[in-house]
Amino acid sequence: MSVTYTYQRSTTTEAILTISFQKELIPSLESYGPYVPGKIGNDFRDVQKWKMFAVEIVKSCRENGTDTPFLSKVLNSQDGFLGRALTDSELAEECMGGMFGGSGTTATTFIYLLWAVLRRPDIGQKLQNELKTAFPGGDKTPDSVAVLNETFRLYPATIAILPRTALVETTLDGIHIPRGTTVATQNLTIHRDPKTFDNPDNFDPERWLKNGHDKLKEALTPFSVGPRKCIGSNLAEMELRLLVALFFLRFEASIDSSMNDSGMFMYDTFNMSPVAKIYESFMV
Ligand code: HEM
Repeated sequence: MSVTYTYQRSTTTEAILTISFQKELIPSLESYGPYVPGKIGNDFRDVQKWKMFAVEIVKSCRENGTDTPFLSKVLNSQDGFLGRALTDSELAEECMGGMFGGSGTTATTFIYLLWAVLRRPDIGQKLQNELKTAFPGGDKTPDSVAVLNETFRLYPATIAILPRTALVETTLDGIHIPRGTTVATQNLTIHRDPKTFDNPDNFDPERWLKNGHDKLKEALTPFSVGPRKCIGSNLAEMELRLLVALFFLRFEASIDSSMNDSGMFMYDTFNMSPVAKIYESFMV
């Protein structure tokens, strides 16, 4: 079996990705985007359709008294910031944020995991052997965790800087930070810091199996840290571990010749994408 990257024009998450890129170039597109004819307008209209669908779901949850840990809290309670309950439209947008945050990130991580592992038959073989021995229950073997950690490190799906406002004046590593300053971290640079990771550009899952890897874990921040860190990190890790186990137990795979280094170059659209995907979206 060979793994090929294909672009599906019609999905709404793809449209969101393209829209982010278009808005980066022409910020005013945000307001008149749905009225633009052709491909650009199609993306905005796709997202509009998604929003209408999400509003319908919120409405039916209200009508049916849906009770899930997430919805029961937000459907009826006051929003701490706004001091009132969220409207259907606002709640739909929150849900869309969760759907968007939880889909492309996990998919992109898995694409890069395959890209990295399938180019290194030694790593793939070791992973496969271990999974076969451990199965069933082989979804959390040391090698699969190591391969996943190494993918999170080299190919962080949230690649953009994550800005925060300093609420108090402070000094960090000798740098004075006045109150109100915008500060940010970026996974890509933290994860490739040679002070923490030897030979940082090398895909080397073994580093997570050596003594002292706990120290490395402190510098692995694909889901960010602190109160606004990813709410879906446990779900994402569970999904990816299952995917890794099922994929490598079931398939003997290789990289399709249509995939290459330049196409897999990471492009920052807040959530990262292979640059070939961005080009393709403009050619459809
Ligand atoms: C490999 C998969 C994932 C990665 C790398 C990832 C990464 C991140 C990062 C770095 C943030 C923090 C953004 C910031 O600080 O501004 C974040 C936030 C968030 N993530 Fe994820 N995420 C993943 C999967 C998921 C999943 C599966 C869900 C939902 C089911 C999800 C939902 C969210 C939401 C709702 C937020 C916003 C949290 C808030 O603002 O308090 N993510 N994610």
